[in-house]
Amino acid sequence: MDIISSITEMQSFSLAARQSGKKVAFVPTMGFLHEGHASLLREGRRRGDILVLSIFVNPTQFGPNEDLDRYPRDFARDETIAREAGVDVIFYPTADTIYPPGYSTYVDVEGALTTVLEGACRPGHFRGVATVVAKLFLIVQPHVALFGRKDFQQLAVVRRMTRDLNLPVEIVGMPIVREADGLAMSSRNVYLAPDERRQALAIAAALHLAGQAAREGECSPRKLLLLAEGRLHQEPELCIEYVTIRHQETLREVDEIDADAAMLIAVRVGKTRLIDNAMLLV
Ligand code: PAJ
Repeated sequence: MDIISSITEMQSFSLAARQSGKKVAFVPTMGFLHEGHASLLREGRRRGDILVLSIFVNPTQFGPNEDLDRYPRDFARDETIAREAGVDVIFYPTADTIYPPGYSTYVDVEGALTTVLEGACRPGHFRGVATVVAKLFLIVQPHVALFGRKDFQQLAVVRRMTRDLNLPVEIVGMPIVREADGLAMSSRNVYLAPDERRQALAIAAALHLAGQAAREGECSPRKLLLLAEGRLHQEPELCIEYVTIRHQETLREVDEIDADAAMLIAVRVGKTRLIDNAMLLV
């Protein structure tokens, strides 16, 4: 397994792989890898001849009062997980390499996709995500890139950006990997104190309750939202940022539940912000 931190070296590596007819699969991450990331890597291994993982805590997608400085990092552990998953190259640049002095070009996906939900709670977040993903695609030049549905809106934004900029990359969305008790895996789960972690289980439980009711025939979004909110309100420390039901592609609110309806939840538990989602009928 190679570790590459220079952009030109990464580009030459990918170019050589492509020229020798190899298919390049790519999994972008911010590191502190867990089983969710590993599932993307395993699928990438299956789909590509060369598997590239990037580890880069991207400063432009963090707001001024967010957790950029304390975002968890453990490169040695990430290296072990990457090796076990069959990664060929870890692209591991510094912030200065990606954003050298004088850097001034950003990718803005306009409209509802980036102004609602995470975009409303975290202004500028998707500008940072779209910018770094576009740059990583130009550096790694993958045929296929894998993203988790855990970050539901991010996946929609990346798909839109890839289409709008005609980037020749196939985007694959992967299922959410959960802990045995239902909590969606996240690098940020390490921030949770034991009691906060217990209360955070209400998020998956609320999604489960709503999904169950929808599958049993409840087709009123309002009733499903009340059900989910009721479960979240049972935990005193959970502060709801949003609970909503949206069309999976447009992220518009839906009047009726169908196979495209997803419930999305964002909460704060203490200082930690958690997001999760589920398709209601699938
Ligand atoms: P990060 O939070 O490290 O996540 C990297 C990828 O892993 C994302 O596609 C995310 O959706 C996926 N992922 C995280 N938790 C998951 C889970 N429990 N199950 C399945 N997939 C999961 O998302 C980012 O980094 C960044 O925004 C990035 C795309 C790298 C741009 O900086």
